[in-house]
Amino acid sequence: MKKRILTGDRPTGKLHLGHYLGSLENRVKLQDEYDTLILVADIQALTTNWENPEALAVDVRQAAEDNLAVGVDPDKVTFVVQSMIPQIAELTVLYSNFVSVNVLRHNPTIKSEAAQRGYNDLMYGFLGYPVSQAADITFCKAHVVPVGEDQVPHLELTRKIVRRFNELYKPVLIEPEALVGRVGRLVGLDGNAKMSKSMGNCIFLSDDTSEVLNQVNKAVTDPARIRASDPGHPDICTVYAYHLAFNDVEKEDIAERCRGGLIGCVACKKRLAGVLNDLLEPVRERRDELKKHPGRVDEILRAGTAKALLLAEETMREVREALQIAYFS
Ligand code: TRP
Repeated sequence: MKKRILTGDRPTGKLHLGHYLGSLENRVKLQDEYDTLILVADIQALTTNWENPEALAVDVRQAAEDNLAVGVDPDKVTFVVQSMIPQIAELTVLYSNFVSVNVLRHNPTIKSEAAQRGYNDLMYGFLGYPVSQAADITFCKAHVVPVGEDQVPHLELTRKIVRRFNELYKPVLIEPEALVGRVGRLVGLDGNAKMSKSMGNCIFLSDDTSEVLNQVNKAVTDPARIRASDPGHPDICTVYAYHLAFNDVEKEDIAERCRGGLIGCVACKKRLAGVLNDLLEPVRERRDELKKHPGRVDEILRAGTAKALLLAEETMREVREALQIAYFS
């Protein structure tokens, strides 16, 4: 029996290179070895987007399409629409009974997200979304969860919930492990702490060649470097951080030339744009292919969700029994 992966995306628009390095790359790499489920977390998206539910119909499909475009194979991987698995909502309520409000308040990802969005009086749903995420992960008894670094606190909470549940009631849940991508967090090309849609510094997986070039050209480099012949400092250069993440072949050579003043920032950026476009080219091709078959994404979402529902029903049966609320069976 293969071990199981569950991971997810909030459908709030196009996915970007930060998502790729944090989690998507691992999904593709591990899809043969693991029985993989990818959750399109539309209910979680509503915790910040509850006023604009009309965007979800497009964004749910966009999230699935981005995954398929980077090479997630729908014949191997099960795509799941969160809102169509009612057991996730049921489990969330049951777990909520033994997760304290203070623990949620101190969750560093909740804190920084709330600050970034200017929330002060937190909504119950937003504060509690890590509990719902524990339900996402446990409904199918996942062993491994590929995620970006910012999700690690949520995984820790999930593990606590599982341990508590198993000891309070009956050991039916699996304690999952986080698998963080090889680059936990991708800095923004503009020098910001991370690539993020709200900061407008993203290279999207669906960007074309000129959009990539444009973002790379805007990138900040070593500020002490005026002329190309000045010795540079790759360790403090944003563009170099991208070479480290995406340009395995040339990264050492570039660092050496930069330090020696033998490659200028313009040339260095040009190489980076080339590497990123090489990475994205097959992604574009797969996306174009997908666009030729309208309805294909919906089919994949529908079939995957139906399959996941069976797992959810099975887990829910065991959970009800463990809680001794399986009154009539
Ligand atoms: N919170 C994740 C994010 O913002 C998305 C997500 C929802 C998720 N449910 C999940 C990730 C379950 C891993 C497992 O990216």
